[in-house]
Amino acid sequence: MPHSRYQNVKEFHGGEVPDQVRVSEPTVWFNPHLLPALRALEGNELQVSEVMEAADRWRRFAPLLSRLFPDVGEVEGRIDSPLLPLSSELSMRVTENLPQTVLVKADHALPLTGTIKARGGVYEVLVYAEELALRERIVGPGIGYSILADEAARSLFAQHTLLVGSTGNLGFSVGMIGRALGFNVEVHMSSDAKEWKKERLRRIGVQVVEHEADYSVAVAGARHSASKRGFCHFIDDENSRLLFFGYSAAALDLASQIKNAGIEVSERSPFAVFLPCGVGGAPGGVAFGLKAIFGDAVQCVFVEPVASPCMLVQLASGIERSVSVYDFGLDNKTAADGLAVPQASMLVARAMQPLVHAVATVSDDSLFFWVKTLFEEAGMKLEPSAASGFASVASYLRGLKAQGAQLPSACIVWTTGGSLLPVKEFEKILARAGM
Ligand SMILES: Cc1ncc(COP(=O)(O)O)c(C=O)c1O
Repeated sequence: MPHSRYQNVKEFHGGEVPDQVRVSEPTVWFNPHLLPALRALEGNELQVSEVMEAADRWRRFAPLLSRLFPDVGEVEGRIDSPLLPLSSELSMRVTENLPQTVLVKADHALPLTGTIKARGGVYEVLVYAEELALRERIVGPGIGYSILADEAARSLFAQHTLLVGSTGNLGFSVGMIGRALGFNVEVHMSSDAKEWKKERLRRIGVQVVEHEADYSVAVAGARHSASKRGFCHFIDDENSRLLFFGYSAAALDLASQIKNAGIEVSERSPFAVFLPCGVGGAPGGVAFGLKAIFGDAVQCVFVEPVASPCMLVQLASGIERSVSVYDFGLDNKTAADGLAVPQASMLVARAMQPLVHAVATVSDDSLFFWVKTLFEEAGMKLEPSAASGFASVASYLRGLKAQGAQLPSACIVWTTGGSLLPVKEFEKILARAGM
């Protein structure tokens, strides 16, 4: 039964890294630095106005995206995913019998790349393309951006190289849009990156540089390679504001979906969102956007594998200096390849310190359990990282109950990748899950 796998999950409220985290036991860490949203946003080094700018830029680029990728999105050129209800039976399993509405924000089926990382990666490439095109006067007042798929723009972009370090999904997102626009793309990949993800990149003309080391080393490799050449742009997963705000615009899409679904939310009846966390950019950006729109009517919970809780250890240790999961005796070895990150982004950690409600850690076994369950019972094709939200809902709710706090009006689990997994790869995951 799924129940038993959570029975021993401990909740923590203090400002130190809990012992359970050090010994890889699933934990929920409630953030003692949480502030009322208004105060947290006012004092933040990141600005709410940048969320709106990002949404505007996505709109400007929609005609280009629909020209480059005619199949993108039901609404032309919009990279967004549906908000799906879960059956009441499945919801009860997720919440362990608490009568909560559970919905899925289905970024595992995001158009183009089937992963949340497209929201940031595609966005940052578009910003760079826009800068170059404005400088060369290819676009300007009265000229629509779909012109950027024409030969003049392509030959301009072909003189430039995009570089990025990735465990797979960010590289794929940058590769897809970069190559479609005519850029050269170089992706530095960690040893956790799956072979098929590297192959997929090579097939679309991306140069893959392999590192026999973790994600932080791969990012450093891309940074170093960029520093030695001109005509290039390094997409810095650890420090990029552009990636962050590309993700943040998702909050506006979710806000209209919540409204359309008739879900009532308010400060007295907040909803909770469960976001898989690697280096932090994707969950951080989305959470920042949600807090900007909903304030204290939303609770954001980040979810990490027990072996790689980089954001938890960073926030619990304080944001004055960067720490890594290795400092706490953990090995960063997890089947959740997208979340296998030893050190959190300090940009995101600083921005999120007063905004994130809790960070939960989950075991690899629980990821496989939920991949299997969601496939069998809801037909969803998720990669292990993307199923982590489901593994954290019950323990978060129990933690709230233990504090005597009111439970959220609804729980939204963000599924962050998987629909484009090759059949063989998905079969391997299901086999490991015991199917
Ligand atoms: C499927 C999936 N989910 C979540 C994440 C987490 O995103 P971030 O590393 O920006 O925290 C990643 C990162 O690659 C991912 O691949």
